[in-house]
Amino acid sequence: MKAIVTYFSAEGTTERYAKALAEAISADVFPILPEQPYTAADLKWTNPMARCNREKLGN
Ligand SMILES: Cc1cc2nc3c(=O)[nH]c(=O)nc-3n(C[C@H](O)[C@H](O)[C@H](O)COP(=O)(O)O)c2cc1C
Repeated sequence: MKAIVTYFSAEGTTERYAKALAEAISADVFPILPEQPYTAADLKWTNPMARCNREKLGN
């Protein structure tokens, strides 16, 4: 049975590790993508009003 590594990565950090893991265990990789791509402003986590922080609060 072949394994699969699924991941979400907004800026590529988790993606690097997911791909390294998948290669190490000969698994397929499957990215989880947002319906609406994140902009740099969306990911400005130090801004309480940024999309990433609003979504974290469920707004
Ligand atoms: C909602 C949110 C909160 C974050 N909080 C922190 C934090 O407290 N400290 C930090 O160093 N980075 C923080 N970051 C930055 C992420 O850890 C960093 O961009 C990381 O590379 C994201 O991984 P990814 O590229 O796989 O999505 C935050 C990012 C988001 C979107």
